[in-house]
Amino acid sequence: MDAIEVIVAKRDGAELSTPQIDWVIEHYTSGVVAHEQMAALNMAILLNGMSRREIVDWTRAMIRSGARMEWTALDRPTTDKHSTGGVGDKITLPLAPLVAACGGAVPQLSGRGLGHTGGTLDKLETIPGWRAHLSGEEMLGVLKDTGAVICAAGEDLAPADRKLYALRDVTGTVESIPLIASSIMSKKIAEGTSALVLDVKVGSGAFMKTVEHAHELARTMVELGLDAGVKTVALLTAMDRPLGNTAGNALEVAESVEVLAGGGPADVVELTVALAREMLDAAGLDGKDPEDALRDGSAMDVWRRMIRAQGGDPDAPLPTARETHTITASASGVLTRLDAYAVGLAAWRLGAGRARKEDPVSAGAGVVWHAVPGEHVAFGQPLFTLHADEPARFERALAALDGSFDLVEHGTPDLLPLIIER
Ligand code: URA
Repeated sequence: MDAIEVIVAKRDGAELSTPQIDWVIEHYTSGVVAHEQMAALNMAILLNGMSRREIVDWTRAMIRSGARMEWTALDRPTTDKHSTGGVGDKITLPLAPLVAACGGAVPQLSGRGLGHTGGTLDKLETIPGWRAHLSGEEMLGVLKDTGAVICAAGEDLAPADRKLYALRDVTGTVESIPLIASSIMSKKIAEGTSALVLDVKVGSGAFMKTVEHAHELARTMVELGLDAGVKTVALLTAMDRPLGNTAGNALEVAESVEVLAGGGPADVVELTVALAREMLDAAGLDGKDPEDALRDGSAMDVWRRMIRAQGGDPDAPLPTARETHTITASASGVLTRLDAYAVGLAAWRLGAGRARKEDPVSAGAGVVWHAVPGEHVAFGQPLFTLHADEPARFERALAALDGSFDLVEHGTPDLLPLIIER
């Protein structure tokens, strides 16, 4: 077998056989298949699609490229969540300790932000002392002690996906349902969780811009999970506007801590509680209700222990950006639209995100929006506060926000429901 044969087959619209898929994934991981050959194959897959059987084979081959974790040493069921990524999506931060406080074990392997979407590890790394990289043994220790761990995936977790995702990112081949589904699910299945809730985002700030596409991605991922013996469910949730009131690393940690303290923005609380209930249900747990665990401080208690167990100081002040710039309302009215992608792009340009994998991010940079769609804003009231370390960044962030919102005298927003479908 050789790479050209596999590329040509997919280019011409054929279904790849199981041996062809196994061969190409194994030999790309080991370096025999060149990046340019895999890039051509990815583009052929993006253009011609894959059958259900091909997606299952592709996912299994990626799982086999590395190690599979297991959690039999734990005395509680494992349950995890994965979001397909959005703007202001800090849900993992309050969610993992919340589910642990209700009896689940959450082995959450997270990633870093790329482009306009934020990454959980970048956010947590703004907490002084907090470490993202743990050995398998350390991960188990934190899980046993606190019930939740959020850390970076080890080098041996689906290494084929690690190479493939970096390649797709620079070859315009991210937005393919078979490639996204297999990428996400290979990592989640290899992570060894027994239950999984997928938060599939829909709207301008998400990979999937329409409910129809998000539905197909969700169905594909749920089937892959069930096929691998993982109890998997998916929620389709809104990303036409950003979540909460902040996008940026330390800004989102602060907002997450507010939720754990029993406050925080209504949409973040609603989605966190809904996802927690789904995770507990998928794991067969029906003890404590998540709303009670937010109210009685037990979720906050797990958060503090989890942060400490990974070297962080939950009481240390979070870093702030050196400069701020406020945009005020030029008229009174109702905010009827706030575009998620534009806000994410502004936060990215302020320094919260990275353009290349190896770029550093600014801990304090980001955007705070002072009103959410549906709220009335008075003339002169602050609409956005931009945070950046260098004032030169404000101009490009302002350009991103230009035209990103509608402020009208009378009107109601036309928004997707926060939870669109289960
Ligand atoms: N997240 C992933 O892990 N993979 C993708 O392909 C897209 C989002």
